[in-house]
Amino acid sequence: MKIQSLRGMPDLFPEDLDKWHIFESKLSKIFHSFGTREIRTPLLESTELFSRSVGNSSDIVNKELYSFLDRNEESISLRPEGSASVIRAIIQKKQEQEKHKLWYQGPMFRYERPQKGRFRQFHQVGVEYLGFEEGISEYELISMVLQINRIIGISNYIIKINHLGDKIAKESFSKSLVSFLQPHTNELHEKDQARLKSNPLRVLDSKEKSTQELLEHGPKFQDFISEESKNFLQNLVDTYSDHCDIQIDQSLVRGLDYYTGIVFEAVSHELGAQDAFLGGGRYDNLSKQLGGKEMFSIGFAIGVERIIELLSIKDVKKSLKVGFIVAGEQNNKKTYKIADDLRSSNNSIILDTFLSEGSLKSQLRKANKNNCTHAIIVGDNELKNNQIIWKYLSGDGEQELLSLKEVIEKYTNL
Ligand code: HAM
Repeated sequence: MKIQSLRGMPDLFPEDLDKWHIFESKLSKIFHSFGTREIRTPLLESTELFSRSVGNSSDIVNKELYSFLDRNEESISLRPEGSASVIRAIIQKKQEQEKHKLWYQGPMFRYERPQKGRFRQFHQVGVEYLGFEEGISEYELISMVLQINRIIGISNYIIKINHLGDKIAKESFSKSLVSFLQPHTNELHEKDQARLKSNPLRVLDSKEKSTQELLEHGPKFQDFISEESKNFLQNLVDTYSDHCDIQIDQSLVRGLDYYTGIVFEAVSHELGAQDAFLGGGRYDNLSKQLGGKEMFSIGFAIGVERIIELLSIKDVKKSLKVGFIVAGEQNNKKTYKIADDLRSSNNSIILDTFLSEGSLKSQLRKANKNNCTHAIIVGDNELKNNQIIWKYLSGDGEQELLSLKEVIEKYTNL
């Protein structure tokens, strides 16, 4: 029987990754321009890191963690997201009192039901600003999100945004929501009944129409947060409403427990049911919760598979290709050296070699098939005179006998 990949853990082939590379290179330039520097944390962490950050009552920890005991009987988990690890790393380095602008990328793991746009191994690019209190950092991160979307060519999206208040406001809203919903428990869908018990705020996210109708008469977040927070949210929205579709969504609470303050998501209808391609918010309490010192924290993460789906980069620019054809003995020191010199002189060209491809004719055929525009032919006789054939593969296939120096010059200037 053939071995298959695990469900929801797709392979990424070279033809898929062409778009990823364009996305990554544009993104790294944007991060550079914001003075944001990369951090890399391990894929495996202690399970406790996620239960104490993302939260025991969240779906992510409750049902979706890939956890197991290692050889030392310690419970470890594949990371489901990146923020907790970044905070853990900064605490471990005792740098909570410094300011950090960080970005990261890599695979994340959640045991979700696989479907379009939802995988068990997926990739995120995340940004975390640490040490910056509520204020200008919210503006800078929303600006960054707009810039990313503009530069990679996404225009059809909405930013949903909400303010969850501080920890106390969040807790008293949660209590009020529970007292409002409890008398209606029987009217709620089974899933929402479970949420009401484990994580009441998540009922707001319910996709059930009847729950949403009920919630219309329920308590509103806005009544629990301070005037200052309300104004802050409104000013943010007003600032960006000329530049994008940004809407206050009072039911936006996000699926991770650590948020307080501003939370936001970018959604696109083009993605279908899993429409959020980016999500984030402020989480000032996390550092203390993980045993560190107080540290203002805010960030967001992009779901790479989802954003790639939206990219309008249809024509991935193809690199120039030149065929390197060895007409004589293949294992010749001199030919390796020539190929080496060519690659060093211009590494934006693909020097395509046809290993074990047989005769001159079949190598030329292969070069044509691979869309090479030129061929460099190295033959035994020519080599003795330090000469090489430079052949045009388009038109009438004209060729010239040149010195190595001349070939390198042509290759450099192609
Ligand atoms: P999140 O909303 O759980 O936030 O994930 C961020 C993004 O990752 C989502 O908007 C979505 O695009 C993508 N994503 C999540 N789960 C999957 C999946 N199963 N398959 C494909 N894509 C998925 C966080 O993870 C927070 N750590 C973000 C953050 C950073 N908040 C503050 N800083």
